[in-house]
Amino acid sequence: MKLTSEFSIRVATAEDAPTLAALNLACWRETYEGLLPAETFAALTLEERLDHWRGVFQTSGARVALVLDPGGEAVGFTQWRAHEFVLGGRLGRGGEICAIYLRRSAQRRGLGRRLMRLMAQEMRASGCKWASLVVLRENLPARRFYEAMGGRRFGRELSWRGVPEVAYGWRDVGRLADHQ
Ligand SMILES: CC(C)(COP(=O)(O)OP(=O)(O)OC[C@H]1O[C@@H](n2cnc3c(N)ncnc32)[C@H](O)[C@@H]1OP(=O)(O)O)[C@@H](O)C(=O)NCCC(=O)NCCS
Repeated sequence: MKLTSEFSIRVATAEDAPTLAALNLACWRETYEGLLPAETFAALTLEERLDHWRGVFQTSGARVALVLDPGGEAVGFTQWRAHEFVLGGRLGRGGEICAIYLRRSAQRRGLGRRLMRLMAQEMRASGCKWASLVVLRENLPARRFYEAMGGRRFGRELSWRGVPEVAYGWRDVGRLADHQ
């Protein structure tokens, strides 16, 4: 089995949009079969993902990372963004985790933990106090992962493409950054 340390993580740029689109589609197909309605699942396309990633790099502040396996193949990615938020009457800066995906072959080796820590370290360095994300309510493996990382459910149920979602948050991004 390949060790986590044999995988590298690097910042992604606009030139990586085609790689990210193909990887994103492959990860979604592995993750969401049976979780999304069949029609929605069948309608996931490379073209739509390519448009999405080109758009991401056109907006300022794209914080995207790629995970490469020991052979240099892209096997995972993350994306987060900072946003200002009114919390208890005070403006606070938080980090929203927009995506964290690994190909099935790269899962359960500790890479997800490493990626969460890295995003939280970047968030802390850019002045974010807390972190949050949303996940499909029925994506139980991912929810167990976020709970193992110290995330707590908050807020009401949301929905993505008509499918229920729940939110997780970390009040202290520093604790996630230092998570063992
Ligand atoms: C969710 C994901 C990012 C986690 O990354 P990972 O590298 O597989 O997870 P790690 O090996 O770092 O796991 C860390 C801890 O989380 C928990 N955990 C991870 N996956 C789990 C699972 N499937 N079931 C229960 N607990 C799990 C465990 O406590 C684990 O520690 P352990 O291995 O010592 O028991 C990855 O599995 C993935 O990409 N899944 C498919 C895509 C997805 O659902 N993304 C989230 C969309 S919102």
